[in-house]
Amino acid sequence: MTTTPAVLADAAAYADAVATATKAAAAYYADGGSALDDDSYDRLVRAIEAYESEHPDEILADSPTGKVAGGAAVGDVPHTIPMLSLDNVFSAEQFSAWAAGVDRRIGREVTQWSVEPKLDGLAIAARYVNGRLTRLITRGDGTAGEDVSHGITSIEGLPAELAEPYTLEIRGEVLMTTAQFEEANEARTAHGGEPFANARSAAAGSLRAKDRAYKVRMLFFGYGVIPTEHTAEDLAEQLRTLPHGELMTKVAALGVHTADATEVPGRVVATVEEVQQRIEEIGALRAELPFGIDGVVIKADLAADQQAAGFGTRAPRWAIAYKLPAVEKITKLVGVEWNVGRTGVIAPRAQLEPVEIDGSTVTYATLHNPADITRRDLRLGDQVMVYKAGDIIPRIEAPVAHLRTGDEQPIVFPEVCPQCGSGIDTSEQRWRCERGRNCHLVASLSYAAGRDQLDIEGLGASRIVQLVDAGLVTDLADLFTLTRDELLALDRMGATSTDNLLAAIERAKTQPLSRVLCALGVRGTGRSMSRRIARHFATMDAIRAADEAAIQEVEGIGPEKSPVIVAELAELAPVIDKLVAAGVNMTEPGATGPAPQGETADAPAAGPLDGMTVVVTGAMTGALEALSRNQMNELIERAGGKSSSSVSKRTSLVVAGEGAGSKRTKAEDLGVRLLTPDEFAEMLGELLA
Ligand code: IVH
Repeated sequence: MTTTPAVLADAAAYADAVATATKAAAAYYADGGSALDDDSYDRLVRAIEAYESEHPDEILADSPTGKVAGGAAVGDVPHTIPMLSLDNVFSAEQFSAWAAGVDRRIGREVTQWSVEPKLDGLAIAARYVNGRLTRLITRGDGTAGEDVSHGITSIEGLPAELAEPYTLEIRGEVLMTTAQFEEANEARTAHGGEPFANARSAAAGSLRAKDRAYKVRMLFFGYGVIPTEHTAEDLAEQLRTLPHGELMTKVAALGVHTADATEVPGRVVATVEEVQQRIEEIGALRAELPFGIDGVVIKADLAADQQAAGFGTRAPRWAIAYKLPAVEKITKLVGVEWNVGRTGVIAPRAQLEPVEIDGSTVTYATLHNPADITRRDLRLGDQVMVYKAGDIIPRIEAPVAHLRTGDEQPIVFPEVCPQCGSGIDTSEQRWRCERGRNCHLVASLSYAAGRDQLDIEGLGASRIVQLVDAGLVTDLADLFTLTRDELLALDRMGATSTDNLLAAIERAKTQPLSRVLCALGVRGTGRSMSRRIARHFATMDAIRAADEAAIQEVEGIGPEKSPVIVAELAELAPVIDKLVAAGVNMTEPGATGPAPQGETADAPAAGPLDGMTVVVTGAMTGALEALSRNQMNELIERAGGKSSSSVSKRTSLVVAGEGAGSKRTKAEDLGVRLLTPDEFAEMLGELLA
């Protein structure tokens, strides 16, 4: 053995040193013994590095410095034992049939099955020599794979050194956990690259890439272990004879990550029924796992059973993959909605072209926050990979960058709170409305004061913001007890606007019950439902006295809605009491209310539109000109009719004003009676007065 000089004298000595080191590395990583021990090799490389830093223009291309595995790792690497695939089954019946086939083949019943998750990554063989990790090889074509030893430092769960100085080959799967995938895409897009569509392709792409400017992390899961030609005979014998489950325990004890360290450890069970049960358990846990699985692998646990069953050309006959349904699909991102939560957090939500995943139709996915959108480089019109398993909320994994057409558009972030119009606090990742919890109050009061509800002129969103911020208003009823002095004390509030506002509030007290009810914002009711409820019950007292059954007498309220409405009204009781105390009207003009128990209701006074369904379209003119669509609908209902927004065979009448388009055409096609606004006004007669 040569002693290595600490200093290389000249170019010739440097070239010699490089040649020696390269040969040593090649021998070492090829699973053979090197001519140099570790220490000598390390000293040689340090001398080479020293020479290179003095003579940077003389560095030889095949120098081992800066290369993982000393640059030895290139070309196709034959596998010691072929790396096979697995056959698949997709149902309990198919699995039972397969298991029965194994029993027949080996002439006895398999009584020990190992059941473990099928990890959704890439198969890798990790060679250890004397306990040191020397080489990583992909499955390739099964007989020879690609050397990906450069990835060693990116892969967690594969220790550089085993707890014992064994020479053996660990086989398993390399994947990215959900968190690692997100990190990887973040790093990649930050370096100007396009995101990977999902964790699996990210792992595949990252594993083979060399010389990345950034580092990504991956995770290894061992699922098998085999001897190599240099494995000591007694160890080799153990590896050939121990049951699979025990081998996995041994692999984990050596420091290698396996499924046993996760929420879905491998289990050895005795019967096909127990296998099924374990498959179901793993399937149920799938959605919560921090890494992807695409099935469950079932293996005959005993070495003797495995040997008796043998191998096919493509897959072993003693193991099978039970595939779980796909939980990923590609669909189009068509829009982004911004919703404001109870605490004022403004959260984006992706609108998707509907896609069926795992038995349900997905149309929305969470997006967390604006930074999340930027980080993922999402654009409107992108094809995106969507993940949905079990009951979890669907999520977008990433855009499928290679499907981009160039027509994708940036996602526009809101500049003001989409709910109340206030400013947005963007200082944290989760954007929040500046009003925080009061945002909902501002929004609900703005709605209540709106034209189709209480119609309080002069009470716009900015005025409401002032009132809320000053602490003058904490609910709808507080609006009705505002004093002149309180209003005058507000910014930009002169005597005239104060008096006008007070007068508008006073007028609002006389609005019909339907509008008051609507202003309260009872969940499950909008404008037309509020009108139906108010007409049916006639007074707020009657509404509040109604139980679920009574509420269901209102058209359009079924057993699902009724408990919500009853509960909402109970919750709103204090506000309603305050409104009553402030003198707000709580009756519906013209309505008589439901008949007392046991009696049939008096037929309501017949109106000109009794029993008719009416659709209004186009601009109203003449006597109807000033009416909003909501007011038109109110009018129709007061006249005994039902308002609707779409024309069908059941439509009795279409009021078509100027600029009426497709609804008018459809009415003509269906032969539905058409009226001009003037004709309709005439029909309503005195109701209009
Ligand atoms: S055993 C000879 N166990 O699935 C036995 N494979 O679709 C071969 N896989 O190529 C593999 N999880 O890459 C086994 N727990 C597990 C697995 C697993 C994932 C992969 C493996 C294999 C592929 C077949």
